Amino acid sequence: MTTSQVSPQTTTLRILRGTVTNGKLVQQTQDFTVPYDATTTVLGALEYVKGELDGSLTFRRSCRASICGSCAMVVNGRSRLACKTKITDLLGGNEGKNIASAEATVGDANVIEVGPQRNQPVLKDLVVDIAPFYQKVKDILPYVQEGPEQEEHVTKDSFSQVNMVSNCIMCGACYSDCTAMVENPSFIGPAALAKAYRFVSDPREGNKTERLKELSEKNGIWDCTRCGMCIDACPKGVAPMEAIVKLRSLAMEAGITNNDGARHAMVFKDDIATWGVLNEPFMLLKTKGILGSIAQIPNALNLAKVGKIPNPFPFDHKVDKLDEVKAIYAELKKNPLDVKTKAADSGPGAG
Ligand code: SF4
Ligand code: SF4
Ligand code: FES
Repeated sequence: MTTSQVSPQTTTLRILRGTVTNGKLVQQTQDFTVPYDATTTVLGALEYVKGELDGSLTFRRSCRASICGSCAMVVNGRSRLACKTKITDLLGGNEGKNIASAEATVGDANVIEVGPQRNQPVLKDLVVDIAPFYQKVKDILPYVQEGPEQEEHVTKDSFSQVNMVSNCIMCGACYSDCTAMVENPSFIGPAALAKAYRFVSDPREGNKTERLKELSEKNGIWDCTRCGMCIDACPKGVAPMEAIVKLRSLAMEAGITNNDGARHAMVFKDDIATWGVLNEPFMLLKTKGILGSIAQIPNALNLAKVGKIPNPFPFDHKVDKLDEVKAIYAELKKNPLDVKTKAADSGPGAG
């Protein structure tokens, strides 16, 4: 009988490497062939590259157990923990883990693309500067404050609200995948807003209303586009967008409505209740006022050029079965949702 050695399977790790020279970031991809088996993670593959092929490859890691949050990076287009992501899941796809196959994402069934987190300056290879991310968390004052509001009894529900966000390991994956950050780097971002919700929902917090006022200002809760990317990215089930939606509801309940975001939400609600459809030109006017709307004229002209100016008179096309829409509103008026104890909102568009 002869014995034959089984050669390990290999895959190509296509790593976006980068160095900063004279203040300028220069990036290029480099391919490495790495062996893998059913247990190999992206972090394991990176360590193979560093140990066996190129010791200059730079990345962060510490616990290797999805606890420290230091190994978050972009893998096949999405931000993930390298130590939690298996090569086999990336190559073949894993529906349960919401991972599409390499064929579907990279276009090559045996290539895995790895790059540094987005929305943060790259320092070297896969290492980004996390100082701005941490600064935003510091800015929301991440501790319980004394204040005029009375202490409340800590119920199981109030504990579960606090606990949901306490699972955050500060990996920055949500921040990296946040679409609002791309347009507005000053946006507080999903992790810090989720952390803020943790304190607003803490029964011991004394400055809830003050917090909600500050969070309703520019770069805060109303700047989120509710794309849902942070929910997908979070490896700990924190669901930052849900926390943001709850903060919005709490701010409006507290009467903090003198801002574009809250006005937009109220006009949206009224339009749907009246016509079952949005009146977008009037919505702009009611949200931003006359001066704010005038400032939007260049945008409106651009939309007009591509035939995308909506009809300002929706009276002709109010939805069929408007009575059913009105019945939903009547029911919600009778039995309002309790945003403090409501189970998680689901998916993009909630709230
Ligand atoms: S839902 Fe909001 S916070 Fe989350 S990724 Fe999208 S824009 Fe960012
Ligand atoms: S909310 Fe989730 S994705 Fe964002 S930093 Fe915390 S653990 Fe990471
Ligand atoms: S190495 Fe700690 S979370 Fe991945």
